[in-house]
Amino acid sequence: MRHVSVLLRECVKYLNIDPAGTYVDGTVGLGGHSEAILERLPQGRLIGIDRDDRALEYAGERLARFGDRVKLVKGNFSDTGALLDLLGVEKVNGMIFDLGVSSPQLDDPDRGFSYMRDAELDMRMDERAHLTAKEILNTWPEAELRSIFWRYGEERYAGRIAAAVAERRAREPIETTGQFVEIIRGAMPAAALREKQHPAKRCFQAVRIAVNDELGSLERMLDTAPDRLVRGGRMLVITFQSLEDRLVKEAIRKREDGCTCPRDFPVCTCGFVQTLRSVTRKPVTPSAEELAENPRARSAKLRVAERI
Ligand SMILES: C[S@@+](CC[C@H](N)C(=O)[O-])C[C@H]1O[C@@H](n2cnc3c(N)ncnc32)[C@H](O)[C@@H]1O
Ligand SMILES: [Zn+2]
Repeated sequence: MRHVSVLLRECVKYLNIDPAGTYVDGTVGLGGHSEAILERLPQGRLIGIDRDDRALEYAGERLARFGDRVKLVKGNFSDTGALLDLLGVEKVNGMIFDLGVSSPQLDDPDRGFSYMRDAELDMRMDERAHLTAKEILNTWPEAELRSIFWRYGEERYAGRIAAAVAERRAREPIETTGQFVEIIRGAMPAAALREKQHPAKRCFQAVRIAVNDELGSLERMLDTAPDRLVRGGRMLVITFQSLEDRLVKEAIRKREDGCTCPRDFPVCTCGFVQTLRSVTRKPVTPSAEELAENPRARSAKLRVAERI
């Protein structure tokens, strides 16, 4: 299995690793970032979280050589605080979250993430979760589908595609990724089908975000996880999509400069206490070399904030 970790060198640099510290990788995936961190943690330890059992199994093998300096746990990174409580860990020296899907999730033909492979419409990262892509496409109201295609996928033809889904499912259930691709194609004007990006890319992304409540998970994580950092500890978040990046940027801003007092107040009376300082004014993006090697990195943006 081949998977190149995005912005690996930059992450290692910005994490400012203390060789005896405790770190969280909230999206352990195939363990690429975790491995690079553990190699710089001779006396420290890493807690790796993922909600995908298959990812944890793979990462467990890859990271086995680090013995008990690595602890892998299944869960949603939105529950980072609760997971740390269970492990009896109060504060950590750094955290990293690399959002999006991993290459095995995309490439496993049976998981239904990919518009390139015909499979059951599933798309669950956590295979024990209840909501699937099939359920969304067959039961959510047409208006709701239009809204997710538009907001999560930035799909211009959201309305036409939602209408086509509704029309199809009235005749027969929509079961496979292949059917969904065909419905999307059928609803789009011919000119749009000739664009470089695959016509189904945006709607697949939208449904995946909805199935896995990706934005809700991110918001809950951003709300709570930074409180578990030691002073000077850093949080790194890599996003692949503008909605996610906006949430990260806004959450950091609110903790950095969230005073809501009128500008002419001599002192702050709203009770705001600064808890983060943003380390990177602008998001860090992959170098030209990285992009040449790994097309998946194309839309990656890394933001770094430090606990104060
Ligand atoms: C892009 S991959 C991570 C790759 C990893 N950084 C590496 O270098 O191998 C993203 C991983 O995050 C997991 N994931 C996504 N959202 C999650 C969430 N809310 N909670 C826990 N894991 C999540 C996915 O299951 C996937 O395995
Ligand atoms: Zn104030």
